[in-house]
Amino acid sequence: MRRVPVRLGGRSYTIRIAAGILGRAGDELRAASDAERVFLVSDTAVHRLYGARVERSLRARSFRVHRFLLRPGEREKTLESVRRIYDALLAAGADRRTLLAALGGGVVGDTAGFAAATWHRGIPFAQIPTTLLAQIDASIGGKTGVDLPGGKNLVGAFHQPAAVLADPACLATLPAREYRAGLAEAVKYGMIRDSRFFRLLEKSAEGLSAREPALLERVIERCCRIKAEYVAADERDRTGKRAELNYGHTFGHAIEAAAGFARVRHGEAVAIGMAAASHVSMRLGLLDPADRARLLTLLETLGLPVGGVPADRGTLFRLLLRDKKTEGGRLRIVLTKGIGLATVRPSVPEPLILEALGEVCTRSSGRRRRRSHGGEP
Ligand SMILES: NC(=O)c1ccc[n+]([C@@H]2O[C@H](COP(=O)([O-])OP(=O)(O)OC[C@H]3O[C@@H](n4cnc5c(N)ncnc54)[C@H](O)[C@@H]3O)[C@@H](O)[C@H]2O)c1
Ligand SMILES: [Zn+2]
Repeated sequence: MRRVPVRLGGRSYTIRIAAGILGRAGDELRAASDAERVFLVSDTAVHRLYGARVERSLRARSFRVHRFLLRPGEREKTLESVRRIYDALLAAGADRRTLLAALGGGVVGDTAGFAAATWHRGIPFAQIPTTLLAQIDASIGGKTGVDLPGGKNLVGAFHQPAAVLADPACLATLPAREYRAGLAEAVKYGMIRDSRFFRLLEKSAEGLSAREPALLERVIERCCRIKAEYVAADERDRTGKRAELNYGHTFGHAIEAAAGFARVRHGEAVAIGMAAASHVSMRLGLLDPADRARLLTLLETLGLPVGGVPADRGTLFRLLLRDKKTEGGRLRIVLTKGIGLATVRPSVPEPLILEALGEVCTRSSGRRRRRSHGGEP
């Protein structure tokens, strides 16, 4: 088992990564919490695959188990879902001796986490992430929340989990497109923080495409360590350090908004966003063109798009200005001074942003190489 500590004083916790850990969830949560019962939130697709295994393990360690299921998908990440979770918590008589556990992807984790943060002003919470994105990103760091019709993640709270249990074996059932989208965040960690990890990803295309459990454990651990460092340095996203995790995201959010959230996966938008951000870095003389070429090659090898946005650059630019990362009219963009070295630039010239957007709008999407990741779902 691999263990990654998240050091946050009294709110510290450990991420545990091991193939098969889902079947030992009861032991792990028993060790991490003195709760009498577990209120399990999942979605119907994940629960069908893994719910019985987790619940059996919880009951074996004498937890009373309650269950609440969302429908799969981002459309359920709403205040209405949270309200329905509150109703079920009330019916179950849940109090601070109840541990709320989220079994699923980032949608389940964010929604259930927000319910845990606010029910009785906060009850204990555990994350059991089942998508690659949730295992390396969404389940770590305590950001919880839901979407409003006016935008994503507009309502939320910080609420750190008491434990995170990541089982790489359950990624075997993840649709190919979801899996690839998660890999974009792994590439992001390499770009902002760790050139050796970036090289590991470059060398491991085949193993990643085969979803080799041992390799995945290693990749997940490295990503978790990097995210945990950022979270420990800037838990509430206030000093600007945690903002480095938004590499590719300022462009990515504009791309998601332009393409429609249902049509482009977050990770795909981040991949194109990294292509745009690296163009800016290169034009500012921060990033060697050969290193940018390595980034684009790696993304394409992993089956991710690096262009082909179905929007014009003017539309993308307007959406980008709307993004919350703009401060005082200036565009703060995360760039890289080489592979593995993030730097935040407080004021990137607008013409350069437009140029980068133009570049990714006209570049072909890179989809032709996707077959290596198990075909379309
Ligand atoms: N809190 C944070 O710090 C943070 C960070 C990044 C992203 N997020 C949020 O995460 C959300 C996206 O999460 P996601 O990409 O995990 O998507 P998701 O939760 O929608 O899951 C994707 C799909 O995969 C299915 N699925 C999940 N695990 C599976 C498995 N093991 N086998 C088969 N199918 C499985 C789900 O049913 C769902 O249909 C977004 O709402 C985003 O805002 C939050
Ligand atoms: Zn992201």
